[in-house]
Amino acid sequence: MKRTRIVEVLTSEKVGTQFMIMGWVRTKRDSKAGLSFLEVNDGSCLSNLQIIADEKLSNYKSEILKLQTGCSIKALGVLSASPGKGQKVELQAEEIAVFGWADPTVYPLQKKRHSFEFLRTIAHLRPRTNTFGAVARLRNAMSNAIHTFFQDRGFIYLHTPIITGSDCEGAGEMFKVTTFDMDQIPKKDGHPDFAMDFFGQPANLTVSGQLEAEIYALAIGDVYTFGPTFRAENSNTSRHLAEFWMVEPEMAFCDIKGDMELAVDFLKYIFSFVLKNCKEDIEFFNRFIDSSVIETLECIISQGFETLTYTEGIEILIKADEKFEFPVNWGVNLQSEHERYLCEKVLKKPIVMVDYPKEIKPFYMKVNKDEKTVRAMDVLVPKIGEIIGGSQREDDYDTLLERIKEMNLNPDDYWWYLELRKFGSVPHAGFGLGFERLIQFVTGLSNIRDVIPFPRTPGNISF
Ligand code: 4AD
Ligand code: MG
Repeated sequence: MKRTRIVEVLTSEKVGTQFMIMGWVRTKRDSKAGLSFLEVNDGSCLSNLQIIADEKLSNYKSEILKLQTGCSIKALGVLSASPGKGQKVELQAEEIAVFGWADPTVYPLQKKRHSFEFLRTIAHLRPRTNTFGAVARLRNAMSNAIHTFFQDRGFIYLHTPIITGSDCEGAGEMFKVTTFDMDQIPKKDGHPDFAMDFFGQPANLTVSGQLEAEIYALAIGDVYTFGPTFRAENSNTSRHLAEFWMVEPEMAFCDIKGDMELAVDFLKYIFSFVLKNCKEDIEFFNRFIDSSVIETLECIISQGFETLTYTEGIEILIKADEKFEFPVNWGVNLQSEHERYLCEKVLKKPIVMVDYPKEIKPFYMKVNKDEKTVRAMDVLVPKIGEIIGGSQREDDYDTLLERIKEMNLNPDDYWWYLELRKFGSVPHAGFGLGFERLIQFVTGLSNIRDVIPFPRTPGNISF
């Protein structure tokens, strides 16, 4: 007989039907009346299936009584209405077989609450907990929603390279890719001779697929990327990873206004999608992690976002009756404490902030007429701060060349990017959404290390 996933068994509620399920025992209780109650989970949903094992089963004494948390089993049985509290249906076992045992003296996931710090040290077992199972299902559902959103709007999914020779953000926070023998690096004039390296020039892991996405946007219209990106910034915060997933749409014939509209529509779509399709998991987060997540998402869907210029934001912050760790004046990079203050205390809404000083933004953003600010757009949300960073792109050849030089970058490295402004240049815009920050926002999980299966952070590459 074929296995049925527990989510299907529970939603079918087909009382009287025989099912075969396979999963891991979460808990077991033995009654004096010769019955055992097994709570079994197979990861397909948050809920466990209750299985009733009767002492008449041939292996009752030899195996079932010895089952413990973490053991894997298969069970064949008939679904029946459950007289007990907490579940509508249960499986009356006709046969139970054990796949693998889990010695309770050493199996770390016993039935009690474990700290997230501890669970990070057992990332090979943490997906078997309620929280990490729910995060995994949510990541999956949200990935699906992201593709559906863009596909429904005619965007083409573009695969951009993971290894590149350019630095999109111009910030130099990159992991180098090399096949050099570290003990014998070929040198020229005292420096590594990259002509001898695999690619014949320095190479690194990409920080963003944007520059390549622009190439395709300027040929086939609207595109999006969704893939891993890498930043070697040494930020040991609850919002930074060295490897994270980014969604980057890029639209031709589009200005900053169209970019902002897309970002807002996109976020609202994702929030509606999870509220509708991930009910059980979202309710779990709302109950056990952060009791405001559902209300917050509903509020954003109905009330939307506030738009604010950087200059307006700075004025509010300067007047604020609040001690910030980082002082504020026009021209500074906003810190998460500033972004959160504006969202949480002042506007009580997520913010789309526009028109940042050009000095604190990358070279590719379109310069405004004031020549001081650029057409940048960041989406800031309560509790996290920035989840989206985007802009209209500089489409004028001379201005772009000047900006590249101003930022002390080498124009030769960007020759193809500059050429796009020489041949049939058009206004275009896009943004990057940090997928993990979005999941943090939706789940209320405070540490970014808990929303990605295997976090990469400074000093941590286990699993
Ligand atoms: O603002 P960023 O650096 O923008 C770009 O990379 C642009 N090239 C995007 C574009 O216009 N196509 O990064 C975009 C988003 C941030 O808003 C943040 O959510 C996330 O990526 N992000 C990180 N997430 C986790 N860990 C990190 N170290 C992150 N750095 C940025
Ligand atoms: Mg940014």
